[in-house]
Amino acid sequence: MKKLIIEGGNDISGTIKISGAKNSIVALIPASILTNGKCVITNAPDISDVRILLDTMRTLGSEITFENETITIDNRNVKNKKISEEYASKLRASYYFMGSLIGKYHHAEIAYPGGCVIGSRPIDYHINSFKKMGINIVENNAEYIMDVDKINGSHIYFDFPSVGATINVILASTLASGTTVIENAAKEPEITNIASFLNSMGAHIYGAGTSTITIEGVETLGDGYVETIPDRIEAGTYIIIGALIGDNLKIDNIIEKHLESVLYKLKEAGVKYKIDDQSIIISKTNSLKPINIKTAVYPGFPTDLGQPMSTLLTQCAGESIFEETIYENRLRHIPHLNSMGANIKAFERTAIINGPTPLRGRKVKATDLRAGASMLVAGLIAEGRTEISNIEHLLRGYERIVDKLSSVGVNIRLIDDEK
Ligand code: UD1
Repeated sequence: MKKLIIEGGNDISGTIKISGAKNSIVALIPASILTNGKCVITNAPDISDVRILLDTMRTLGSEITFENETITIDNRNVKNKKISEEYASKLRASYYFMGSLIGKYHHAEIAYPGGCVIGSRPIDYHINSFKKMGINIVENNAEYIMDVDKINGSHIYFDFPSVGATINVILASTLASGTTVIENAAKEPEITNIASFLNSMGAHIYGAGTSTITIEGVETLGDGYVETIPDRIEAGTYIIIGALIGDNLKIDNIIEKHLESVLYKLKEAGVKYKIDDQSIIISKTNSLKPINIKTAVYPGFPTDLGQPMSTLLTQCAGESIFEETIYENRLRHIPHLNSMGANIKAFERTAIINGPTPLRGRKVKATDLRAGASMLVAGLIAEGRTEISNIEHLLRGYERIVDKLSSVGVNIRLIDDEK
């Protein structure tokens, strides 16, 4: 186990470069299984989820290099094998192998996926859609065993626009016979990124980024190329930090359109920033106004930024309300924020935050990835030393976070937690 030690309270300046999106790359890598060709993925983040997925691909026979933010995958010798618990349980996104393996080989065996504990997080939309596509799924010994003779195009409707289920249906239907239509599809930019990658291999996917996606099945795919989009959640986290302790902090490699809801809300709180092409320059705002945040699917305020944003709300003068609508367990960080001096009352999925409250450094715990981001933001603005344990979660989502923050003047280090 590792923990982060932060000496808070300093302003920061310089440039932070945003990495490729975690939620894209974790789908792009399994998507490459659909071709026997060669794939090049640029702007790839070097995070543990990526290493695990690449190791998983190697067990199937992929030849892989990863250098200078570029992953090359050669699938000439790839074979369909079981994705064992050793790999699947390390991250939730291992479920994308369900879509790509069944799509390509019409048979897949995969152990249950892992991931952060933020609510029940079922995968019934994935399973029901696969069944709708004629795929037989049996659960045995904590594994899914999937079989189908031929995947025919079908009509899929989601009760809720699930990111993972949308991508999994795209993966399973790219090589299907006939046309698949997904209604009420997720519109997140990561979906568009995956569709561009598959289309570069020769897939026929239309409408990604809208709520109706059409996939005309093709027989085979060739070589693929894609640039991973910048991580809008990482960018949003550093923008929040900039609004609290920035001194002309530059955050580079962003796509403004992907951050619209976040920037809109920060502007409402009185934050000033300047956007120049693919970068944003942001400085701390001394008198933040209270605002209400309600998370929603894209283009709404991202659930993954709700927790770090709730830390910013502790510094707004007055009452702010933070409401989480996607997951049921996204408020587990609140007791930790309160222990640092925040004044927050939490009710199920809503938090009422009264500020501004100075925060004091404390020993706190990252209960999940984005809770870790919330604690990090708190540690940066707190007086004194903050120790965040269980930090593996945070390291999973933020590439080289200690280096990036140190380079702009933060006193931060990662140590082994013997306890
Ligand atoms: C993805 C992101 C995650 C983000 C989330 C919502 C990845 C790897 N992760 O997660 O960071 O927080 O989108 O933007 O891309 N649901 C069901 N049944 C299902 C699938 C989902 O009930 O089969 C529910 C979930 O419990 C949740 C909601 O739908 O309440 C959204 O889930 P979904 O969009 O699928 O999130 P993920 O793809 O898991």
